[in-house]
This record gives sequence, structure tokens and C-alpha cells, in this order.
Amino acid sequence: MKAIALTETTSISNLELIDRPVPEPNSNEVLVKLFASSLNYRDLLIAIGGYGSRQKKRDLIPLSDGSGEIVSVGSSVKKFKVGDRVLASFFQSWISGELTEELLDDDLGRSSDGVLTQYRCFKQEGLVKIPNYLSFIEAASLPCAALTAWSGIIELGCIKPGQTVLIQGTGGVSLFAMQFALMAGASVIVTSSSDKKIEILRKMGVKKTINYSKHPEWGMKVLEITDGMGVDHVMEVGGAGTLKQSIRSVKPGGVISIIGVLDGAKSNLLIPLIGSRKIRLQGVTVGSVENLLNMVKAMENHKIKPIIDKVYKLNESKDAYEYLKSGKHFGKICISHDL
Ligand SMILES: NC(=O)c1ccc[n+]([C@@H]2O[C@H](COP(=O)([O-])OP(=O)(O)OC[C@H]3O[C@@H](n4cnc5c(N)ncnc54)[C@H](OP(=O)(O)O)[C@@H]3O)[C@@H](O)[C@H]2O)c1
Repeated sequence: MKAIALTETTSISNLELIDRPVPEPNSNEVLVKLFASSLNYRDLLIAIGGYGSRQKKRDLIPLSDGSGEIVSVGSSVKKFKVGDRVLASFFQSWISGELTEELLDDDLGRSSDGVLTQYRCFKQEGLVKIPNYLSFIEAASLPCAALTAWSGIIELGCIKPGQTVLIQGTGGVSLFAMQFALMAGASVIVTSSSDKKIEILRKMGVKKTINYSKHPEWGMKVLEITDGMGVDHVMEVGGAGTLKQSIRSVKPGGVISIIGVLDGAKSNLLIPLIGSRKIRLQGVTVGSVENLLNMVKAMENHKIKPIIDKVYKLNESKDAYEYLKSGKHFGKICISHDL
């Protein structure tokens, strides 16, 4: 079988097409023929050494998000059969309940080999069936970005009809967050650095948008749009560079989902503004297999389709990473596992 290996986690140039034997499942595992995968910003960070000392495995098959079809099952597998279409959970051992340090350290494509390969064995507990209305490419876009958005908006955010959610940018997590907020009956304000992307949002029916490059103090714009009220919830993917504006944007008693570090990881928090205005900072870490299952069911009920920007082939994986790095994408970047 063909796979892509990241021979050292220091640069995208270390991505190499390799040959490996097809693995054999043990009794509790299934062998999946993987047809598709998708990239997340995290995969770029891993490839360039951005995880520092948290990156213990330095020679690995990258990517967490993959989908495919089961081609053989171990002797004690009850949950799946040959022919089932499945997607892999980001955390393979976090089945339900609260996260622990140990569970946090069983993520695909960082602590263990990931899914940028034509075959991989998985524990049966780490997989979820793909609903018929989704293609393999679409399903491969879900495990990290969509589930993070789902956790922020639905599981932890408990967004209600009539509330307003601020979405930062038009990357993978953000566009899923926009879709889930709308599904929950909330209205959204979406920021972007690009007028071209804002035009696409407008065509999709998003009326409230802000170009954050043209308006670096965009928190003021959010207050203008919301008649001085502020929003109920912010999906914070920027980090250090955006948190100040998020704090300005959110209403007293509102929530900021702390998700990403696209604009820096170290911040000088405005502590008085957080405390006196009763703002809740809610950390989000993808989600469990149970959360993934709930999300997939809800998506099926509402026939929510992932927004896919571009699909590369396996041997074009480096180009896919470069495209992610460019920030030109709108939604998800995927890889089809043909050559
Ligand atoms: N905590 C978790 O469990 C978790 C899970 C998934 C991802 N993350 C983190 O969440 C972040 C987003 O991940 P992703 O995979 O969705 O990334 P992505 O698809 O690469 O998103 C890139 C987009 O983010 C927007 N962006 C960049 N800088 C921004 C800024 N300063 N303000 C507002 N928007 C900005 C840009 O949109 P425009 O071009 O429209 O400006 C850019 O195109 C990353 O930091 C990632 O590590 C965390």
C-alpha cells in the first residue's frame, strides 16, 4: 500500500510517498481501506514542529481525519462488518464522559500514526458509521474541525434560538461552527480578512460580516451590528491576537470558546473586563466518540453538507499542506487517496 510519511516533524518538505505492507487487524480491530482524509491547521503545526516537546513521535504517518470502508474484522469485533463505511474519531480512546490526560494523549496523527495511508487498523471503539448522504471526502472533513465546532456551539455552548454567535474567519472549524449555530436557530456574524470570501458568505445568505483586516478594532463593529449589546458567544480561533476584540464583542455573561492560536498563543488578558462582565472562557478540545456520533446524527437529520474547498490526490499531499499554509482556503482541504 501507499502512504505519506512525515520523516521528521520539522518541515513540510519531509513529507514522502512510501510503500508499506497492509497491516493485519488484531482481535478487537478492523482494517479500513481509507479513501479520503482532510487537513487541519493542527497538521501544519505538527509538520513544522509547532507542538514542541508535546510531539513525542517524530516520524509518523500524519493527519487525524480519515474515512473509508471496512475490509476485514478481528475475531471479537461486534460493532462493524466488512463493507461498513466509517470515519475515525480524532481521540481514539475518549469514548464518552470527561477527558483525562491519558485520553488526551491518544490522538491520531500526533501521538500515533494517522490516516494519510491507503489502509489502517483501528480499534472498533474509535470508529463511527458514515451516513449515506455523505461521500467519503465529505465524511473525512468531520472528525477534528466539525466536532470541535459542535462541542463549542452545541455540547458546551448550548446555543439557543435567537442568540448571536461571532465566528472568526472562514477556515474549517469556523464554517462548521457557522453551520451548527444556524442549525440551532442562532444568528451569526462572520469575520474574514478577504472581501472575496465575504462575497461567498453573502451568496450563502450570511448578512452580517466584518473584514477584520480593514477593521482591526472589529469588536467595535460587532457592538455596532448588535446595537451595543454584544454577542452571546464567540468562537475564538485566533488566540492571542484576537482575544481582546472577542472580549469587547461578547455581552456580559457571554461565553468565549477558546479553540485556536491562528494569531498567537501567548496573551495579556484583560482580566478586569472578564471578571466584572462575568464572561466565561470555555476551553474546547475536539470531542469524544459519543459526541462525534451525536454530531453525525444531527448533521444527517439536517442534511448539513461540509464546505469543501479543494481535493488533492495522495501524491499531491505536500501541495495540500502548502495550500493550507497559504490561508487562501474557504472551508476544508481534503485528500483523495488515489495516486
Ligand atoms: N481546541 C481544539 O480542539 C481545536 C480543534 C481544531 C482546531 N483548533 C485550532 O483552531 C484553529 C483553526 O483551525 P482550522 O483547522 O479551522 O484552521 P484553518 O482551516 O486553517 O483556518 C484558517 C482561517 O482562519 C482565519 N484566520 C486566520 N487568522 C485569523 C485571525 N487573526 N482572525 C480571524 N480569523 C483568522 C482565516 O480566515 P479568512 O481567510 O477568512 O480571514 C484563515 O483562512 C487553529 O489554531 C487550530 O489549531 C483547535
